[in-house]
Amino acid sequence: MLTTLPLSEEVAYLKRSVMRDLLKLAVSPDIISLAGGLPASEFLPLHEFQQCLNTVLERDGARALQYSPQSTELREWIAAYMTQRGVKCDVDDIFITSGNQQGLSILSRLLLNHDDAAVIEQITFTGIQQVTAGRGAHVLTVPTDLQTGVDLDALEDAFREHPRLAVLIPDFHNPLGVSLSAHKRQAIAALAARYGVAIIEDDPYSALRFAGETLPPIKAYDEADVVFYLGSFSKMLAPAMRLGWIVAPRELMPKITVLRESFDLESSTLTQRAVYEFLSQGLLEPHLKRLNAVNHERRSTMMDALNEHLGDLAHWTQPEGGLFVWVTLPENIDTWVMFGSAVAQNVAYIPGASFAVDGGFTNTMRLNFSNVSPAQIHEGIKRLAEVIKTWTL
Ligand SMILES: Cc1ncc(COP(=O)(O)O)c(C=O)c1O
Repeated sequence: MLTTLPLSEEVAYLKRSVMRDLLKLAVSPDIISLAGGLPASEFLPLHEFQQCLNTVLERDGARALQYSPQSTELREWIAAYMTQRGVKCDVDDIFITSGNQQGLSILSRLLLNHDDAAVIEQITFTGIQQVTAGRGAHVLTVPTDLQTGVDLDALEDAFREHPRLAVLIPDFHNPLGVSLSAHKRQAIAALAARYGVAIIEDDPYSALRFAGETLPPIKAYDEADVVFYLGSFSKMLAPAMRLGWIVAPRELMPKITVLRESFDLESSTLTQRAVYEFLSQGLLEPHLKRLNAVNHERRSTMMDALNEHLGDLAHWTQPEGGLFVWVTLPENIDTWVMFGSAVAQNVAYIPGASFAVDGGFTNTMRLNFSNVSPAQIHEGIKRLAEVIKTWTL
């Protein structure tokens, strides 16, 4: 049956995910998928988490299954973690979410009216597009340097147009793999303060660093309290936790709480208890050590395979963490058009244009290295290179 009911304006702004449709084509078990965005399934902390969940249920009994407020212990742990990363905060500045996508939704509703200007990167995670363009905002885009992150001059130009907010990904950008340089983090906080623009710092990936120097978040330089930091347990622990956090000025917490209650009443408090148990037993550090070692090996394998098979044809980013590599091919190749040929050769990727807010970037692709074995990476890149070579002839 087809409904004839009128729908809200917001629904009209939302873009259907062409990427999702496209990936439905890539379901054969023979396909090596470099298209995903998942941590390695075989290295998720299954047994540790099972034991933590049992501990919580045995110790806390029915209380663990009841309606209850956000876990103060978990918020305290997060406040200490953020303080150690250079962000001055305490438990009252921390709000638990069901992950960064929910954090993005809450903050866009807190800060942005329909038709207000919002700044996002020309190439960015589709969930960031959903909470800005997807809510009817007037979107101003800024380019991103593939070595150092967002272009500061362009950001300042955009700030002169009085946007309400800018959304940036500081570490191991999705889909570009690049991180903001230390200098740019500091400069962005200063620009935001000068122009009175809120920054939403969307950071699901910083704990996934396997090389290079750890950098403080933009929020660490935020003297004016205009930066809202979003952290997530999805990639550092497991996506199914559906837990993340916002660091925000404490006087906004009542508004954030009410806004959040319009989506759901609370993130699972059972999961909050179990995650706190995991963290308080000191299990995060060994888990991250293992995971990052695996990601490092897989990233290096991908770099080697790209060099071997595409060295003279393409260039790509060199991520020091996270999950993604961004590849730029010769201009005459359209990676949407090429996708069918790649799937026919049993290899899949995400066409870069699906992240391009203003269009273009048709000769780019995002590759994932975390959820494929080194052998699959070698074979996948070899197959991909064969396809690319037939399209460059
Ligand atoms: C940049 C970025 N922001 C937010 C999210 C959503 O993360 P979460 O699982 O915490 O909702 C993702 C997920 O891939 C992402 O890449």
